[in-house]
Amino acid sequence: MPDQPHVHTDIVIRNGADPVNSDALKCALRRMGGGVSVITAGEGEERAGATVTSATALSIEPPCMLVSLNRSSSTWPAVARFGHFCVNILGHAHEILANQFAGRGGLKGAERYRGAEWTQFISGAPVLKDAVAAVDCKVEEAIERYSHVIVLGRVVGICIGNGGSLVYRGGRYFPLGEQ
Ligand SMILES: Cc1cc2nc3c(=O)[nH]c(=O)nc-3n(C[C@H](O)[C@H](O)[C@H](O)COP(=O)(O)O)c2cc1C
Repeated sequence: MPDQPHVHTDIVIRNGADPVNSDALKCALRRMGGGVSVITAGEGEERAGATVTSATALSIEPPCMLVSLNRSSSTWPAVARFGHFCVNILGHAHEILANQFAGRGGLKGAERYRGAEWTQFISGAPVLKDAVAAVDCKVEEAIERYSHVIVLGRVVGICIGNGGSLVYRGGRYFPLGEQ
């Protein structure tokens, strides 16, 4: 078996002549745990936001974040228009908020901000007051590719909170770290 991948698994989906099936990719990604954040942008009734696992640092020096946003989501136009976003890193108590910002209750735009306390820092993007940490960014570049846009944000402010973080794996939320 020359091209058998060295992975201990029950299912092996190979990339031969046929393109990889998107369900297979989803299946692989469901096995990866990801830290959960809420990306916020806008002001007042023009606020929008989304739950993401794609937010991470591009580089530490210079301090730069990246997030991959669906171009058809309501958050990308707000990020583009206001030129800012905040990565609000969620904690153990934020599962309801994560669902709200994933659009699960049918809430849209500023309605998603209900039930939590918000402030602003440097960029003007909404900052979750009890976030485990919040990284405030000004948009530096946006790279549109396929269904998504990779947004690069120069870090202009950082708030450090308390508690352990929220991780998403296999369609479920898990608490990680200290209370
Ligand atoms: C745990 C989790 C992680 C997600 N990660 C992303 C992500 O990285 N990028 C993205 O565009 N959408 C992501 N989504 C989906 C968005 O939260 C969701 O599509 C969006 O909030 C729907 O907003 P809309 O009604 O404005 O389109 C994620 C959803 C969940 C539950």
